[in-house]
Amino acid sequence: MYKIAWLPGDGVGKEVLDAARVVLDRVGFDAEYIHGDIGWEFWKTEGNPLPDRTIELLKSTDACLFGAITSKPKDEAAAELAPELQGKGYVYSSPIVGLRQLFNLHTNLRPCKAYPGNPLNFRDDIDLVVFRENTEGLYAGVEWHPVPDAVRRALETHPKMERFRDVSNEDMAVSTRIFTRNACRTIVRDAFAYAREHGYGSVTVVEKPNVIRETSGLMVREARAIAQDYPGIELREANVDAMCMWLVKNPQDYAVLVSSNMFGDIISDLAAQLVGGLGFAAAGNIGDDYAIFEPTHGSAPKYAGMNKVNPIATIRAAKMMLDYLGERDKAAAIERAIERVIKDGKVRTYDMGGDATTSEMAQAIAAAIEEG
Ligand code: IPM
Ligand code: MG
Repeated sequence: MYKIAWLPGDGVGKEVLDAARVVLDRVGFDAEYIHGDIGWEFWKTEGNPLPDRTIELLKSTDACLFGAITSKPKDEAAAELAPELQGKGYVYSSPIVGLRQLFNLHTNLRPCKAYPGNPLNFRDDIDLVVFRENTEGLYAGVEWHPVPDAVRRALETHPKMERFRDVSNEDMAVSTRIFTRNACRTIVRDAFAYAREHGYGSVTVVEKPNVIRETSGLMVREARAIAQDYPGIELREANVDAMCMWLVKNPQDYAVLVSSNMFGDIISDLAAQLVGGLGFAAAGNIGDDYAIFEPTHGSAPKYAGMNKVNPIATIRAAKMMLDYLGERDKAAAIERAIERVIKDGKVRTYDMGGDATTSEMAQAIAAAIEEG
């Protein structure tokens, strides 16, 4: 019996996790699900959207299924704190970004494949898999405003700081983009290993080394080195801006994409929209000894409690969790059931042009799981 941390979070998070549960039960996944507190409510009442007890819970489980979270920019978040917590220095930061770093979930895996019969497909022959570095780059959180004197002095050792000479520390904000060789290697290696295991012919490294020479340059150099170990798989290189155009122009020509944290965030939304958008987009945040699976959509507060949103993204996340746990047959059974329901076209949620509810879609997928 597996132990699964169950983190619905905010808004529609509970509904979509409930939907996934219907399918997990139907496929006979034997697990104890343990609820964890996370999200906006805990920010407002405790000044921490990711309480320590939730971190401890995750440590005692095999994997985690996570719903969705409401997050707001710094000042808006501070304004919603309980009165007794106001002005005490609490600063909101995204719990999912925190979890990725805390558990070193270095690999964000986002498969974006067109299901036959999905009316939302941009084309029917798209099969992209995005590997997004998940712990560093622009998401590392090493940033300042105003810029402290010591940081300012360090920056001024760089000749290109000369043009900012007359700007005060208060009038400057700095967010760093730190890449480590180790993280670049890990994400590229994971991308190639996946391509080999699943029979994809190319891995495209998506960066911008012509301008962001040091960080993007490191990623591309590591990709070239690792590609040597995978002779049957072509390494392609694309700049992130051009990649966005090509993904609209000829997405069927690409297979596995690998990128750093921020660029990977952006291209994975683009790739997801080509095959149905947020109702279909699932992600695995995978580390060496733990993983968290989630739909990539947000908490959609305006739909909360309406039993309306498409649960397929979360059901796919659950399917990915089963793959991670080695429950390949059960994962494959869920995948076939999703394919069947979409192809059949009778049960469609609002985003697909239908009027099926969240729970009706879950029931339809559960019912499509073959016996045995
Ligand atoms: C994602 C989301 C998150 C991210 C947000 C919710 C912090 O956009 O998982 O892609 O930026 O990574
Ligand atoms: Mg995103």
